[in-house]
Amino acid sequence: MDKSVWCVMNIRMITLTGLLLLAASPSGAHVDSHLLTDPCGSCHVGHGVADQPMLEKAEEHMCYQCHGSTAERARMEAEGRLVPGSRLKDLRVEFNKIYSHPVERGSGHSPTERLPSFSGAKTSHAECVDCHNPHQRLTNHKTMDFAVQGYSLDGQIQERALYEYNICLKCHTNAIGAKSNERDLVRDFSRSARSQHPVTSGASGRYLPSLIEPMPGGSRMNCSDCHRSEDPNSPRGPHGSQYEFMLSGNYDHDIYQDENPFAYQFCYQCHDRFSILSNESFPLHREHIEGDPLTGRRGTSCFTCHTAHGSPSNRALIEFNRQAVQPADGTGRLEFQSLSEGTGNCTLKCHNYNHAPGSY
Ligand code: HEC
Ligand code: HEC
Ligand code: HEC
Ligand code: HEC
Ligand code: HEC
Ligand code: HEC
Ligand code: HEC
Repeated sequence: MDKSVWCVMNIRMITLTGLLLLAASPSGAHVDSHLLTDPCGSCHVGHGVADQPMLEKAEEHMCYQCHGSTAERARMEAEGRLVPGSRLKDLRVEFNKIYSHPVERGSGHSPTERLPSFSGAKTSHAECVDCHNPHQRLTNHKTMDFAVQGYSLDGQIQERALYEYNICLKCHTNAIGAKSNERDLVRDFSRSARSQHPVTSGASGRYLPSLIEPMPGGSRMNCSDCHRSEDPNSPRGPHGSQYEFMLSGNYDHDIYQDENPFAYQFCYQCHDRFSILSNESFPLHREHIEGDPLTGRRGTSCFTCHTAHGSPSNRALIEFNRQAVQPADGTGRLEFQSLSEGTGNCTLKCHNYNHAPGSY
């Protein structure tokens, strides 16, 4: 389209939307932040760059003008577009980490896209505005309104995501997973799952001896309680981490692994190491996690027995790492059976040791 026509159209649109926006969001929006000198002009300037609605820079680079380095902010302040003294942090640091959302990769986002596939948008992109509406600010930690599209667990598109996880499901589901080998998030977090970390339904609130900060029954976790920066002083959000799977701490998955606080740092952020290793719940935790120096048997990762999201059919997030265990000799079965806490039996073969079944 001819650029000047496009511009005129946009100016008209901007005036219109501006009125609507200001009327619709009286508080808490980027657009009326006391820190932005000009509600629209702090971001929308002149003719802008191609394919962007009068934005001086494209995609994340546009956000980094204020959410980037101190030097970038200083320029915005000098140009009178940002009030000096804002305490904004550098988000680029997060996205430069080895495990991060690939905001810098290509340009896949379109303001009119409907993920996963409407308008031909690629699903393998992730831009700031896929998760954030630049015209709206998050309100507070748990009850934020992202004002971007999302998906419900039963696959319904939502014009406004209700919970954080609704946004994630735009791209992370079995059918359209950002990576094809991902576990099926919808199944693991389905409300009928036998056990799960309480993201899509409220916490059970029952007594779990290891829990450092028990959650009141009914309250929820966010995906970004686990998938976030390893540095608690970093901005909140699933932007990047130096640890695999973009986790808030290190988590070794190895079949043979010596226990130490770093190996399972991630789980130990919420589950007390001492409680786990003193067998307060599973009487054989220590033996499996630390191994046995007398027999020379090595310890193994939590991942050998536990999945992190949810288990469709087992209690206590039990899902065996199929690379570590095989069906038990004689029975051909590989399963965990238990109806109640503190008891159970496992039918499987592990470290050449046959449980057919082994009970506790
Ligand atoms: C914090 C920066 C920022 C501010 C402040 C801001 N915008 Fe935007 N605006 C953007 C970005 C980024 C996009 C592109 C969104 C996308 O690609 O999905 C955009 C897109 C638009 C569009 C194109 C249609 C759409 O909604 O995607 C219109 C119209 C618009 N803005 C109007 C306004 C008006 C009017 C104001 C002031 C009331 C304003 N904007 C304030 C960053 C901003
Ligand atoms: C012109 C400067 C500027 C630009 C450009 C800008 N922001 Fe902001 N942003 C701010 C300021 C200032 C605040 C804090 C507002 C306040 O506290 O009043 C903020 C707040 C936020 C918050 C909420 C933080 C919270 O604690 O709730 C998010 C999310 C955010 N911005 C995302 C973006 C995204 C995404 C972009 C790019 C599309 C962007 N911003 C572009 C200045 C900017
Ligand atoms: C617009 C699409 C999109 C949305 C929305 C999205 N992601 Fe992603 N996510 C991606 C892409 C693309 C990757 C990178 C996959 C790759 O490395 O090829 C990714 C990677 C990840 C990874 C790292 C996976 C790994 O194997 O290391 C995690 C964890 C993650 N996302 C969590 C989330 C969470 C939590 C949310 C919701 C707050 C979310 N994502 C929302 C597209 C998205
Ligand atoms: C209790 C912490 C926790 C929560 C909550 C959580 N995750 Fe994860 N996630 C993990 C761990 C740990 C892994 C690594 C794989 C494993 O150990 O099972 C992972 C792996 C992933 C991956 C990598 C692909 C895969 O499946 O292997 C993606 C994508 C992901 N999570 C997205 C999400 C989304 C989206 C949510 C919210 C709906 C979420 N996670 C909630 C801990 C968590
Ligand atoms: C995959 C989704 C996703 C992407 C992509 C993403 N964010 Fe976020 N971001 C979030 C979530 C979720 C939170 C809020 C977490 C919370 O409040 O607990 C957040 C929080 C923030 C905050 C507030 C942090 C704080 O501690 O006050 C800012 C600012 C922000 N994001 C800016 C950006 C910018 C800039 C980009 C692109 C360079 C970006 N985000 C890309 C999901 C995303
Ligand atoms: C951010 C905090 C957090 C992290 C990190 C975390 N958990 Fe949890 N975990 C919880 C909470 C909260 C509950 C209680 C849920 C409830 O009450 O419904 C829980 C419950 C559990 C349960 C019991 C589930 C049940 O239904 O019986 C197991 C098992 C578990 N976590 C294992 C792990 C493992 C293994 C890791 C590391 C891979 C881990 N958790 C990391 C917060 C966390
Ligand atoms: C050999 C398999 C196995 C390994 C390895 C294992 N667990 Fe468990 N874990 C279990 C079983 C079985 C239960 C259920 C006990 C019951 O309630 O009957 C359990 C229960 C739990 C619970 C819920 C009760 C509580 O203590 O609060 C948490 C949390 C937990 N494990 C965390 C971990 C962490 C963290 C690791 C790694 C450091 C780990 N587990 C390693 C088998 C294992």
